[in-house]
Amino acid sequence: MNKFMNVEELDPNNVDHDQSEKYPLVIENGTFSWGSHEAPILKNINLNLAQGTLVAVVGTVGSGKSSLISTFLGETDKLCGRINTKGDLAYVPQQAWIRNATLKENILFGKPFEKSLYHRVIEACALKPDIEMLPGGDQIEIGEKGINLSGGQKQRVSLARAVYYGADVYFLDDPLSAVDSHVGKHIFDNVLGPSGMLRKKTRVLVTHSITYLPEVDLIVVLKDGEVTEKGTYKELLEKKGAFADFLMQHLQEIGIENTSPEADGLIGIEDLQEKLTRAISRESGSTGDKISRHGSLKRNLSMDSCDSSSLKQMNSGSLRALYMDKEPEDISLLGEKSH
Ligand SMILES: Nc1ncnc2c1ncn2[C@@H]1O[C@H](COP(=O)(O)OP(=O)(O)O)[C@@H](O)[C@H]1O
Ligand SMILES: [Mg+2]
Repeated sequence: MNKFMNVEELDPNNVDHDQSEKYPLVIENGTFSWGSHEAPILKNINLNLAQGTLVAVVGTVGSGKSSLISTFLGETDKLCGRINTKGDLAYVPQQAWIRNATLKENILFGKPFEKSLYHRVIEACALKPDIEMLPGGDQIEIGEKGINLSGGQKQRVSLARAVYYGADVYFLDDPLSAVDSHVGKHIFDNVLGPSGMLRKKTRVLVTHSITYLPEVDLIVVLKDGEVTEKGTYKELLEKKGAFADFLMQHLQEIGIENTSPEADGLIGIEDLQEKLTRAISRESGSTGDKISRHGSLKRNLSMDSCDSSSLKQMNSGSLRALYMDKEPEDISLLGEKSH
């Protein structure tokens, strides 16, 4: 707590907000750190993300995916380069948070109730069955004084809040990591993906799931804080670079064994694609064996958390991004109680 209270004030000039910029999200030769005297955590970043595109950010744990989002939110220190964001930003953090309030209030979050929008959001975020089952429906108190939601339910409430808010740009930090795969598919199809509610918004989606990568407009591969590759799914597969490595690593994690690599030691595209097809059909298939298949993935995710002080910082960042007219202190923050 002490550490949190004593953190340096962030430089508000870190991120420019020039609304005449062509692209909503721009970083030019950007190098960033967590703390002005710390070593860079993101190096030589060059990104021009176009309006209305869905951009996936992939990479192993600690490669800097969450830091990249924090950077767009102005939470890191800029050591050099230029960064610009355009429009209203919404942030769905890796650790979903809940206010002590009713489920409905957690979604509206101070915005006026619009019945048809609210119901579309509930349906798209796959919350309808939960609400129907809860005593009191969406009037149920959640948080410290109410019931505890599961990790997956919290993620869906957190996403619903951002969708209902209606920003121009969405930062989504692995928002489907705790939901079952069939629910994840529903949410991708109805919210995040090319025919979802957010289809016209600029979306930056950090993901550990390979299932949706063929459907995104651009994939950015991070490794040790640097962008090693960017391109479409097809382009990256054909390059056999870090992206193909990432996929192979992921396939091993979910237990699709590395069979015959080619004589030159590289994995053939057809071989890789065949394995991917198998993996994807398994990922989006039944959820019964999800835990075992994602065992190592889950372990990675649980290692993927930062200490509670930085978590609070990220939480207040999310509030700032969602509610720029309110001070984060106005809103009580809740740590994770259950998962
Ligand atoms: N809020 C934060 N405050 C301080 N350091 C952070 C924060 N978030 C991440 N880091 C550090 O940045 C590095 C990259 O982590 P992160 O961006 O979380 O990677 P990823 O999301 O790809 O797993 C790690 O060393 C991590 O400890
Ligand atoms: Mg992360």
